[in-house]
Amino acid sequence: MTNVLKRLALKGINAAGYTLLRAGEPEAIRAEAVANAEERVARIREEAVANAEERVERIRQEAVANAEERVERIRKEADEDAEMRIGAIRSEAEDDAARRAERNRTETDDHVQVRDASLYPSMVSDIRPIEHITRGCFQDRTEATEASITEYMESEIALGRVFNYFSEYPTQSMLSTNARMAIFGLIRMIKPATVVEIGTYYAGTSEVIARALWENRSGVLHTVDPYGARRCPSILRKWPKELRDRVRYWSENSAAFFERATRDHLQFDMVFVDGNHDFEFALFDLMAAARLLRPGGLIIVDNCEQAGPLSACRSFLRDMPGWEEIGRLASSPDADGPFAAPSTLIADTGFAFLKGPDMVHVGERPVSFGQVRIERPKVTGFQIKLGAESFAGTLHYRVLLRAFEYGTSVIEELKSTGAVRLASDGQRVVNQWLAEPLRTDFGYLYANAVYTTEVELAWTPDDGNTPLQLTKNPVILPLAGPVGGSA
Ligand SMILES: C[S@@+](CC[C@H](N)C(=O)[O-])C[C@H]1O[C@@H](n2cnc3c(N)ncnc32)[C@H](O)[C@@H]1O
Repeated sequence: MTNVLKRLALKGINAAGYTLLRAGEPEAIRAEAVANAEERVARIREEAVANAEERVERIRQEAVANAEERVERIRKEADEDAEMRIGAIRSEAEDDAARRAERNRTETDDHVQVRDASLYPSMVSDIRPIEHITRGCFQDRTEATEASITEYMESEIALGRVFNYFSEYPTQSMLSTNARMAIFGLIRMIKPATVVEIGTYYAGTSEVIARALWENRSGVLHTVDPYGARRCPSILRKWPKELRDRVRYWSENSAAFFERATRDHLQFDMVFVDGNHDFEFALFDLMAAARLLRPGGLIIVDNCEQAGPLSACRSFLRDMPGWEEIGRLASSPDADGPFAAPSTLIADTGFAFLKGPDMVHVGERPVSFGQVRIERPKVTGFQIKLGAESFAGTLHYRVLLRAFEYGTSVIEELKSTGAVRLASDGQRVVNQWLAEPLRTDFGYLYANAVYTTEVELAWTPDDGNTPLQLTKNPVILPLAGPVGGSA
């Protein structure tokens, strides 16, 4: 249209018309320019949209491909890991099965040998019915002391009814008549709620203990022997129900038993150590028993005529503040030479009696109160309850927080160490706050995180020898509190 107008103008159409044409020209040019621009804009937009869509599609495809590759890699890794774990579990199970088979074989051989030697029938006497041996006696609880034990052993009851009952019975008990009388009478005297026997053998002494508990009308015996899986349950099945109800037999070694007992928060009043008599095993049994013994509890160690149990008692008494021997077997020096007959409190026994303190004693040797599971990974301090009337010194402490991931070797350990002056100023409860609370974010990284905490204490008394006495083991303070110092 614009070109037509131009051409008309050039051909000399009248001036008015020409003027009109000239006036309309810029508008026409602008309109054409606008139309052109709009067309270009539209084209550019279309191109841009097309490009963007193409890029988006490409990026999406790449992302999908990457994600699939990663998923595949993770799946492969998980498969490999699972295979490795399954392999490890299978080989552990195979080892375990082989060990069990070997143990069963040895036990069966044991039985066969005993049967072949015609010992078995005479060894396991017929079980007597349930009956009172000391009806009407031992009404009150009596503490175990040298005087009370001696008085009982010389009493008419002991020398009459108890002696008559346990002389030659039960034949499968490895103890002498005197030892059976002593153990029966002690349980009647101190009336323990929980007794442990390490080393069941043929459950002969277990029966003596069970009869005393039945007469007390309270208390239970845990008896432990890793080699009795076949014989012990069948022996116990022949017992009268009243006695059986007083006994739990555990087919495991003492280490497994004490570990489980710790986990289950069991506590004992009396422990009879009569398992493996090697020094290392006997000392372990003593230490582990002491840790789970109620304040003032009693440990009886058999076979102290042998080097292992006797040395274990001596090491134990040397290292455990507050523990005392009833009698002088382990605490007296070898006046007549290392292999002289031991001077036991009760004749014709190998018994040493070790009595725990009424309080938890903390001495100069650092002592741990064991790892305790906690739910939340945060420890702000610990609490102790002081028991003794008079003391002064410095309490050194170390508190640990550990985080584990089950099935991996991943572990994190945090510690806080400090010391505090303590003196008997009437304060009974001490809340000791750590300089900085221990806490960890381990749980954000590992889904199956497990946390434990442990308190270690050592006491430096001003007078050089009085141990710090606590009414019970320290407890962890999970609550937030003032930082630093004691409150
Ligand atoms: C001397 S006998 C026990 C006698 C029994 N207490 C009695 O008076 O008739 C020792 C027993 O300890 C067991 N024993 C060996 N090692 C042990 C351990 N690590 N833990 C528990 N018992 C163990 C043996 O299988 C054996 O039956």
